[in-house]
Amino acid sequence: MSAEHAIEIDRYGGPEELVWREVRRAPPGADEVRIRTLYAAVNRADLEIRRGDWPIVCSEPFPYTPGLEVVGVVDDVGDRVTGVWPGAHVITMMQHLGGIWGERPGGYGEFVVVPADTLATFAPEVDAEQMAALGLVAVTAAEGLARLDLPPGASVVVHGASGGVGSAAVALASARGAEVIAVLPRAGKDDYVRGLGAARVVHLDASGLLAALGPRSVDAVLETTGARTFADSTAVLRRGGRLCLVGALTGAQLSLSAWDLLQELRLTGWSSENLTGDELREHIALIAELVHGGLLPPPAIHRFAMADAAAAHEQIEAGELTGRALLVP
Ligand SMILES: NC(=O)c1ccc[n+]([C@@H]2O[C@H](COP(=O)([O-])OP(=O)(O)OC[C@H]3O[C@@H](n4cnc5c(N)ncnc54)[C@H](OP(=O)(O)O)[C@@H]3O)[C@@H](O)[C@H]2O)c1
Repeated sequence: MSAEHAIEIDRYGGPEELVWREVRRAPPGADEVRIRTLYAAVNRADLEIRRGDWPIVCSEPFPYTPGLEVVGVVDDVGDRVTGVWPGAHVITMMQHLGGIWGERPGGYGEFVVVPADTLATFAPEVDAEQMAALGLVAVTAAEGLARLDLPPGASVVVHGASGGVGSAAVALASARGAEVIAVLPRAGKDDYVRGLGAARVVHLDASGLLAALGPRSVDAVLETTGARTFADSTAVLRRGGRLCLVGALTGAQLSLSAWDLLQELRLTGWSSENLTGDELREHIALIAELVHGGLLPPPAIHRFAMADAAAAHEQIEAGELTGRALLVP
């Protein structure tokens, strides 16, 4: 057992429950890898779990270390591990790391132990901080866009376009030749999303999406906001259009008009709860290539000392951050 530090919570509550303390953790098992954390990105789900809005399902959840994803360097490998070596740059996410399953401590720690098959490696010349900032939100954007199956030149609405998922989706879709319509709650971040490749920007406080675009006018929608926009998202789709929902930031109870659904719409969704190691490796290979080539700009990065994770949670809850908060041990 080695001594190291990690954030833990002993009960649900506010950011002040996030305490940096010494922990003693076992070395990796035969099929596991120990990672020295370089960056742990903060996700909204971490806040929901901390508050108790998305309770941990195991019988004795506390003490609990949050964190759904980590970028780091392999520190130690178990006896049966092949294909990963000490010193390799890796990223891991979800697959029961730090989520509601409470099976193992999450990413807010100096070291993280995970099964070897939950990792993706990337070349040391790829910027690790940019990979961490893209991480889960870029994988989510990639999975959502894959379900939209956009032909070149297709028009796609991206909700929450200035956010983590949305900004990665704007960059990935426009890099593939789609015409991206970026949706923002209000004016102010237009230059940012246009810089990522958006051809047009819609502000929800100025007009609803339907009023701005007109009925049956676009090929696809990547939905991240949910309740506030879902009816309009289906109304703007052309006959046979596709929608993939990956987030419901404004509420999970959705409505739509039956007349829109009759237009042979294809509505689906994706959750990173279902991400596998093979899928992660496939996406990270592409994301790392785009990052290295400067073709996938990361969201704005805000660094926090990991011991000060509470400040990151506070600022996200107050709506003060655009982009990604990264915890640095
Ligand atoms: N399916 C999955 O596995 C998965 C994975 C990751 C995330 N998600 C979900 O995806 C959603 C977006 O995550 P994220 O990390 O991209 O969040 P984020 O970085 O906070 O971005 C949120 C985006 O939505 C906009 N927004 C905020 N409040 C809004 C409102 N009331 N009406 C319309 N737009 C609003 C924000 O605009 P401003 O910047 O102007 O505030 C921003 O563009 C969340 O619900 C998250 O839980 C799902």
